[in-house]
This record gives sequence, structure tokens and C-alpha cells, in this order.
Amino acid sequence: MAVSIKTPDEIEKMREAGRLAAEVLEMIASYVEPGISTGEIDRICHDHIVNKQKAIPACLGYGGGRGVPPFPKSICTSINDVVCHGIPSEGKILKKGDILNIDVTVIKDGFHGDTSNMFMVGDVPPAAKRLVQVTHECTIKGIGLVKPGVQLGDIGHAIQQHAENNYYSVVRDYCGHGIGRNFHEEPQIVHVGPPGRGMELQEGMTFTIEPMINLGTYQCKVKRDGWTVVTKDRKLSAQFEHTVLVTADGVEVLTRRSDEVFPWE
Ligand code: MF3
Ligand code: CO
Ligand code: CO
Repeated sequence: MAVSIKTPDEIEKMREAGRLAAEVLEMIASYVEPGISTGEIDRICHDHIVNKQKAIPACLGYGGGRGVPPFPKSICTSINDVVCHGIPSEGKILKKGDILNIDVTVIKDGFHGDTSNMFMVGDVPPAAKRLVQVTHECTIKGIGLVKPGVQLGDIGHAIQQHAENNYYSVVRDYCGHGIGRNFHEEPQIVHVGPPGRGMELQEGMTFTIEPMINLGTYQCKVKRDGWTVVTKDRKLSAQFEHTVLVTADGVEVLTRRSDEVFPWE
């Protein structure tokens, strides 16, 4: 399947899906405190998406096959050494010092909006704070390059450079993706270089940038549940994600939250 260029009408729908996904992350922020379970966080997000937004949580029942069950919850909650795809559960209680990624994907009017944010639970050790800070910078640097004519390798390179300059590593096993009527479309958005290579961006493309940055090795393994991805060395991992649109002369962040200001604006 080729890369889809969204029509003005489709872009309007992507804007709405993106806005709703971002709104879930805004809504849940005040609940993230020591003592709450990720199961409870999932329930609150699910109810908000289904009842308030009249939208569909895309993760619920997604994927599976080859002996792996479909994803059983409405959002992903990835704590500390969990790289991505953490499954919310009643037994996972947040504690002071945890770093948590909440990844939300909603479907509205047939289109997907996909975004994630990091949350620090109470006071967090400086090393964890710094990883979260640099991972955010990597994400913003990648998004800031987006415009027609830029190549995918340029974006990956900028992310990789900034991560490795800070002695961190970039996860290779998972990447960003085109998004629209489908959750995961072409192209793959790899978060490492080389610059000057890969597909050229075109106006009307929509995709995610979602680098996973590790404190130690970039290597990952999948737990026995078939979903939860953890770092091989069990050191910390962080991730941010936005869904973006390539405009005539730059980028529009479709999942921007109201408190976010980008350096190019
Ligand atoms: N939201 C994830 C992404 O950014 C995908 C989660 S799939 C799930 O692509 F099944 F784990 F929910
Ligand atoms: Co995504
Ligand atoms: Co996501």
C-alpha cells in the first residue's frame, strides 16, 4: 500500500481525531499520582473517549494473531523500563519516582489520532528527569524538521544525534508510522539516520513521530503477555508521540495540547 496524501476533507477529520487524542492526555494529567493503578487510569480514559468524545479507543482489541491475544485495554501505560505497549492493570500501582508514558489513540469519523506523553510520579530522580527532558527534545527536533522535500533519514538523524550526544540510545525495533483511516500506514518513520536518504515528505502526508529513547542499550524484549516491551538491560526508557501533518511550508502538530508551545512558532 502506497503512502496516502490526505484531501482537505480528510485533513479536517484528522484534525478532529488529533484534537480528541490530545484532550484525553490533558484530561488524565490530574489523576496521575502515587497510589492510582494503571487499570484505573485506563478506565477513566476509556469512559472519556467513549462517553464524552463519542469516539473509539483504537487500542482496545487491536492486533494479535500468531498466538498473541488482541490488545486488551484502551490505552498503553508504560512505566520505567517498559519501552511501549504496557498493558494497564489493577495491580500496577504508581509510586513516587516512577516515569510513565500514556499512549492514546482515538478513532473519530473513521480517522485516527495517536499521541503520548510522559508523566513523572511525585519526585523523580535527576537521571530519570534528564532522560525524559532529552527524549522530549529529540521529539521536538524531529517534528521541527518536517516540511515538503525533507527526507525521512534527516528526521531520524536529528533524533539519533541528539539522543547519542547525551549518551542515550534510540530504540530500533519500533518506529513511527503513517496514520489516517488506518492506525498504522506507510511510511515507517524510523528514529535513526542516515541523513539525505529515504522518502521525501510531501504536503498532505500525516504520520507520527514517537522516538523511544533508552538510558542503556537500545535492545528490547517482549514479555510473555505478547505485548509489554521492556529494555533488555531493564534500564529506563522514555517516549513522546505526536501525529503531524506536512503543510505547504512546514508542519502542523495535530495532537498538540493547549499548554504546548513549539520553538518554530
Ligand atoms: N499507540 C501505539 C503507537 O503509537 C500503538 C499501540 S498498539 C496497542 O503506534 F495495541 F498496543 F495498543
Ligand atoms: Co503511533
Ligand atoms: Co501511540
